[in-house]
Amino acid sequence: MAMSPPSNRLWWKEPIARVELIWILIAFVWGLVMFFMMIYWHGAGQQNLSNEAYKITPEAFAEKAQAMTAKYTVREEAGFPVVSPPPGSDVYLIARLWQWWPILELKKDQSYRMHLSSMDWQHGFSLQPTNMNLSVHPGYELVTQMTPNASGEFSVVCNEFCGIGHHTMVGKIYVKE
Ligand code: CUA
Repeated sequence: MAMSPPSNRLWWKEPIARVELIWILIAFVWGLVMFFMMIYWHGAGQQNLSNEAYKITPEAFAEKAQAMTAKYTVREEAGFPVVSPPPGSDVYLIARLWQWWPILELKKDQSYRMHLSSMDWQHGFSLQPTNMNLSVHPGYELVTQMTPNASGEFSVVCNEFCGIGHHTMVGKIYVKE
């Protein structure tokens, strides 16, 4: 019965069965393998980005995104500014219920420092059709180096459930030759 004390009062001093030891060893070694795979994929994979993260208030981040937008807007599309910041510059993308703001227009084979943050809840930056995924949190500014290696029109899909309009939260990034 579960409520009765163990017959051997010193149950923790019983020898570990051989099969149990083997399982512990396998689990430990596998844990080590997966740990080193994280480091390996960081260099060998093409999807694990080197990120930096900084604390920031939504207001301060919005201010930076707005400053970039005011400076480099080239046209409008369905009420969204299309922003074409110079290569090598800092690019800001706001995530909020339920949109990515603004629309970005980048140049192929040029590097940008992409800054992401949320104004409200957690969102997920998922670049389609490539499979690049980043979590976007309020209160944190995520910075990552981005070098588009293909031209075209890319969608930014929110892949973190964020409420009733989650499925409509789709942004756009143009990459020009
Ligand atoms: Cu934002 Cu789902």
